[in-house]
Amino acid sequence: MTFKNKVIYQIYPKSYLDTTGNGIGDIRGIISKLDYLVELGVDMIWLNPIYPSPQRDNGYDISNYVAIDPTFGTMADFEQLIAEGKKRGIDVMLDMVLNHVSTEHEWFQKALAGDAYYQDFFFIQDEPTDWVSKFGGSAWAPFGDTGKYYLHLFDVTQADLNWRNEHVRQALFEVVNFWRDKGVHGFRFDVINLIGKDQLLKNNPVNDGKAEYTDKPLTHEYLQLLNAASFGQDTASVTVGEMSSTTIENCILYSRPDRHELSMTFNFHHLKVDYADGQKWTKAPVDFEQLKHLFHTWGQDMSEGQGWNALFWNNHDQPRALNRFIDYKNFRIKGATMLAACIHLSRGTPYLYMGEEIGMLDPDFQSMTDYVDIEAKNAYQFLSANGHTPEQAFEIIQLKARDNSRTPMQWDNTVNAGFSTGTPWLATGNHAEINVANDKDGEIFSFYQKLIALRKADTLISDGDYQAAYQDSPHIYAFIREFENRRLLVVNNFSNQEVAFERLAEFDNSEILINNYSSYTDNILHPYQAIAFVYTKNV
Ligand code: GLC
Repeated sequence: MTFKNKVIYQIYPKSYLDTTGNGIGDIRGIISKLDYLVELGVDMIWLNPIYPSPQRDNGYDISNYVAIDPTFGTMADFEQLIAEGKKRGIDVMLDMVLNHVSTEHEWFQKALAGDAYYQDFFFIQDEPTDWVSKFGGSAWAPFGDTGKYYLHLFDVTQADLNWRNEHVRQALFEVVNFWRDKGVHGFRFDVINLIGKDQLLKNNPVNDGKAEYTDKPLTHEYLQLLNAASFGQDTASVTVGEMSSTTIENCILYSRPDRHELSMTFNFHHLKVDYADGQKWTKAPVDFEQLKHLFHTWGQDMSEGQGWNALFWNNHDQPRALNRFIDYKNFRIKGATMLAACIHLSRGTPYLYMGEEIGMLDPDFQSMTDYVDIEAKNAYQFLSANGHTPEQAFEIIQLKARDNSRTPMQWDNTVNAGFSTGTPWLATGNHAEINVANDKDGEIFSFYQKLIALRKADTLISDGDYQAAYQDSPHIYAFIREFENRRLLVVNNFSNQEVAFERLAEFDNSEILINNYSSYTDNILHPYQAIAFVYTKNV
């Protein structure tokens, strides 16, 4: 299992580097930054969708699975990216959006034109169910003028695919193999735990209908078929499923090696600890107890059940973790390195999201016109119509919008952050102070370099099991890793204050493996200190 010592870096292609001046990042921009990524030490880059798409949901509405959208470049550019990456030991992970297609995809267009073969590619019913779309409103829309309805769990232009139809499965497996033939070894499967839907979809007011389509047993069968028909034979493959509202039990099944489904799973429970009543478009403080509890249960249960977690704080759907979990105005750097230690020393595969390595923050947008994302626009309408003043609604958008992390990568302090010579598709954030030119030799970047190198050098980090520690501490998130006869204690202070700390007796004679402060004082943790102690057991 080759992937356990790897680290994956996520690039939002639209926002990485624009080499044409059209305001949108492109593949050639990514190629030109491969050496930067080599310096950081990552093994694989995950690219958000780069296929032709009307861009209603920023590429997650695909109209052709086997081509490159001209705004990102050409197939030749993509092939060059693979080749240049290979020279440098960097593989590519592609985003596979196999739960739905754009309504502009030819399958949907043929279905609309009356072709029964393609109509069975979708969920088309006489009666809609009571399910709610994840982007707001009903999950059903009129299917042309037929008087019927088609299912869209996301935007109205993202029609859900009927995996029960073996022609659909076959066509999707061929898509994966098309990219494998180009030399792609990594695949991130978008909302893949939603594919196991029943033949006839039924009403269910519980969870807006989620119970009817999430983590259904059929999903596991489909993943086994996908695995056998595509990446399963490739020992270099790395696959990750994005699991919406999932459970540990299911994630163990999705990722346990003997199940032959996926290498690992993303879940999002730890990024909902600042939601009021489980609702995203709300304002609430971080519930640290809940965060700690979630990390410990997922860490331990996945370890015992031989599942494998994808570990992350940031991605293209989340506001920056520094804004959420850290007193970033006073402790941006220590906070960033502490968050890094929490996941890079844990059991699972760490993912960094572009800009995290220099401690990028959310932008300070001042008007709704700065936001581009369909989800944020819908949410603003919804909040305004449901008892919030415009100011209150906007404040929540500022905190929660996905555009927070999608702003252009901050390369330097020149106009548009060195991202583009044109007008960026989304405004840039605070690049005057935070940018690669300033920060590449700084504390955050070099701490990431160390953590990434450690995972490669030390099997305790890549392969050790996970045990919870200091569960009762109100400020400390700590865990123990064990492999063969070595034990590692990782301690993270989530507070902006000094916190009293007593080292576990078994670690009395341990060594410090890594520390985000230059010193360690017994019995005290500095604000946001992250420190790891290691020792070898006498056998
Ligand atoms: C996933 C993607 C998100 C997209 C959605 C629908 O959650 O990460 O960006 O909007 O799926 O494809």
